[in-house]
Amino acid sequence: MTQLGSFDPIVNDLSLRGYSVSEGFLSTTHIAALAKLALTRQREGHLVQARTGKMKPEIELLRGDSIEWLDEHSAEASVIDCLAEFDALRRILNQQLFMNLHEVESHFAFYPPGAVYRKHLDRFANGPQHRQLSLVLYLNEGWINADGGALRLHLDGPTDERLDISPTIGRLVLFVSSRFWHEVLPTNRDRLSLTGWFRTRSHLSQPTDAGTPTE
Ligand code: OGA
Ligand code: MN
Repeated sequence: MTQLGSFDPIVNDLSLRGYSVSEGFLSTTHIAALAKLALTRQREGHLVQARTGKMKPEIELLRGDSIEWLDEHSAEASVIDCLAEFDALRRILNQQLFMNLHEVESHFAFYPPGAVYRKHLDRFANGPQHRQLSLVLYLNEGWINADGGALRLHLDGPTDERLDISPTIGRLVLFVSSRFWHEVLPTNRDRLSLTGWFRTRSHLSQPTDAGTPTE
């Protein structure tokens, strides 16, 4: 279990800058179990292409990942425990930053070599605007810069400053969904993550897709 107060750096960074990059959100054994599970699910073919037939052809070029939605009914302890940690963080964010986060939706994501996710915002183009905070927890052992696949966060500001974040195991990135354009740069090796969103209350019972770009 997370120690009381261990979310403080995340809370501070979100409050000051609107984003946070941190290590050690889950214990080493927990993150290893989650990484192993994601790899197994991917190898067994449970992850499906995120782009759907409903999308326009030009959108199909925008993202090359495959996903599997996760929920609290999972049979896997590593998923249940991770969602419980997200829920603990959600409560702290509600208390300390007066956010009105009601739930988290999340999925495993897999990018094969060559895949990207072009610059986008994590909001539906014409749908409900429930996504408040985006989160990505990376699951890749031994990632080096030459492996590519960085998350590029476009920081708002006069100079179009960018922050490139390697998807290295155990790293957690959080950012305000409506504020930061971001992209996944081309990856040179298999890239796994657990991606999700803290949302305000929604009348939708099921998430439909991981986000149609609004650009
Ligand atoms: C997404 C996304 C970033 C990443 O799935 O919407 O932006 O680093 N993912 O995987
Ligand atoms: Mn995104």
